[in-house]
Amino acid sequence: MPVISPSLLAADFANLQRDIEMVNASEADWFHIDVMDGVFVPNISFGMPVIQAIAKHAQKPLDVHLMIVQPERYIEEFAKLGAEIITVHQEASIHLHRTLAQIKEAGCKAGVVLNPSTPVSVLEDVLADCYMVLLMSVNPGYGGQKFIPQTLEKVRKLKAMIQTKGLNTLIEIDGGVNQETGKQLVGAGADVLVAGSYVFGAENPEAKISGLKQL
Ligand code: DX5
Ligand code: ZN
Repeated sequence: MPVISPSLLAADFANLQRDIEMVNASEADWFHIDVMDGVFVPNISFGMPVIQAIAKHAQKPLDVHLMIVQPERYIEEFAKLGAEIITVHQEASIHLHRTLAQIKEAGCKAGVVLNPSTPVSVLEDVLADCYMVLLMSVNPGYGGQKFIPQTLEKVRKLKAMIQTKGLNTLIEIDGGVNQETGKQLVGAGADVLVAGSYVFGAENPEAKISGLKQL
């Protein structure tokens, strides 16, 4: 059974509390929080005050995905806001090993994110320091994009790397996840599915979450 992490990026921000309560009551496991700075990715999402408001109502762990340059500048602040997992992009972290240590020192679980064009081989010497690896299955910046099918091969490769090293690192996938792509991803070895528009764009979001959970 995969871990399900609905992305609040696709929630109705004018009814955020309602949407958070829906996730609380659902079979979802985490809240996926997308932070975008308009520099690392072309889009800007939301920042500290909004995350603070989310943390007040969320009854499940916050899975914070930082799509920002120099993420090391904000780790302590996100930890204080209540992040349980913080993931940083390999492409945005020059001293990735140090940033992962910083996340752990702040009391959080640390993860690395890879863009679709970044090979899993860059993780060779840092995998043992990761609680989780997030493979982007769309180019980061926007919800509602189409799943990039080559991600399935990346999942298989990463799973093999994890098993060869005798680790239990989780593999999370983000972008274009729905019942169909979710099924293929779980088959390939994914442990955590992020879903935004597929869940929040539905008439019955809780049913979509249940469907993914059954995969
Ligand atoms: C994209 C974000 C995703 C996004 C996924 O940059 O990291 O978490 O919300 O949205 P969907 O599920 O609609 O592709
Ligand atoms: Zn995300």
